[in-house]
Amino acid sequence: MNDNEQNPRVASDADFDLQMSSQQMLSLASKAAELIVDRVTGLSKEKAWDGEFRQSLAQQLMSDPPEEGTSAADVLERAAHEILPFALRLDHPRSFGFIPSSPTWPGIVADFMAAGFHINQCTWLVASGPSQLELLVIDWFRKWLGYPESAGGLLTSGASAASVDALVAARESAGYPDSATVYMSDQSHSALPRAAKIIGIRPHCIRLIPSDAHFRMDMTALAQAVAGDRKKGFNPIAVVANAGTSSTGAIDPLRKLAVFCEKEGIWLHVDAAYGGFAIVTDVGKQLLAGIERADSVGLDAHKWFFQPYEAGSLLVKDATSLEHAFAFRHDILQDTVWGANHPNLADRGLQLSRSVRALKIWASVQTFGMAAFRRAVSKGMELATRAGEYIRDSSMLELLTPVSLGIVCFRVNPQDISLDDESLEGVNKDVLARVFWDGQAFYSSTLVGEIFALRLCIVNHTTTWEDVRATLESTERFGQMAVDRVQLTPER
Ligand SMILES: Cc1ncc(COP(=O)(O)O)c(C=O)c1O
Repeated sequence: MNDNEQNPRVASDADFDLQMSSQQMLSLASKAAELIVDRVTGLSKEKAWDGEFRQSLAQQLMSDPPEEGTSAADVLERAAHEILPFALRLDHPRSFGFIPSSPTWPGIVADFMAAGFHINQCTWLVASGPSQLELLVIDWFRKWLGYPESAGGLLTSGASAASVDALVAARESAGYPDSATVYMSDQSHSALPRAAKIIGIRPHCIRLIPSDAHFRMDMTALAQAVAGDRKKGFNPIAVVANAGTSSTGAIDPLRKLAVFCEKEGIWLHVDAAYGGFAIVTDVGKQLLAGIERADSVGLDAHKWFFQPYEAGSLLVKDATSLEHAFAFRHDILQDTVWGANHPNLADRGLQLSRSVRALKIWASVQTFGMAAFRRAVSKGMELATRAGEYIRDSSMLELLTPVSLGIVCFRVNPQDISLDDESLEGVNKDVLARVFWDGQAFYSSTLVGEIFALRLCIVNHTTTWEDVRATLESTERFGQMAVDRVQLTPER
């Protein structure tokens, strides 16, 4: 009697229920590749956005896991046709909402490779090759930022995680004081106050500093807030600057902030999640001058560096400050400290188990070269500038803020008719709803001060001027319809 006969629940050595033959693996992988290539090459013929109401999706999807499996190819088909299409197509050439992104094919395939080689990019012992690769990619970023050799960092899931890591390092470097305060502009991304809250900064100690007429942090208000807090016994530990707000693309006065923070002994973190990769271009270098003086910078390669999610990063001017904050000894990891001169990247942030995020960045840069990346980033800024010119020349549209990086904030406001603020807001909300349901393009809205604004973020390497022009033209058309509707509606 073998083990199985004694206890039917014990599998024999020969049972690999969860394994496939090499032929099955290859055919499933090529099925997936076919489905993805079909999607990517057919994108411009699809709508930029698709979505479904929850009730209908729940009816279709919610079921208990099956006891017995089914054809793997059918499962992928189902995913590709019944689930995944119901989403914003962020890489569609006319997708301009929020912060879109358009990953390159080598980056996508590299993520598949990273999963297939099944690496845990935690420590040198466990993943030395991938660790060195991450150091290389971080070193590229370091040089682009103009940081000294003492700088270093790590790849993260995104800017939200990078911001938490940065604020932890800031707090440690300030000596972990009580009554700590953190400062950021009222234009900062919600990821930043959330990061401050996560590290234990009390809500009343998170200071949202007013921004000026150009949505940049007001330096006088910052200085007053810091001085006032010190008098009251608070301990300022960090100022967060924006290098490209997600709303209007505004860049805080980075040099002035660096001088201020150096004088005050406060950590300066720059949230360059969206705008940071402009630094690879000459124009971007000038716009972001001063960033090299910050104590830390967060940059998302899944935004303007054409990578699949998740490809965030955090760089700190003094690499040891991260390890000082994050390295912990643990018996089960004691073997990983043997050897010399090798960092364990898990000691630099909040994650232990980590995927090989560097592979996609490295693979796509190796494949296309930096000149191509530079041109792609420049193109976004050029198209945004051109969109701004189109809007200035249009009798239907109004540019609301200067175009900055890839962001254009505008609204429908016909020159020949005078509409009050409320009607204008109604018209623009109506236009946005028409854009969503039309689906030929997708963009989103923001608030410019109190004004409801339409907003394009142009950072896709496959977007052409024709895509931008057609989107603005349809906005003018929808604008006319919305205005006509307001004029036809009798006053109550
Ligand atoms: C300026 C800025 N900061 C932070 C974030 C949050 O980044 P993530 O989604 O990578 O966590 C975003 C996201 O769009 C952003 O635009």
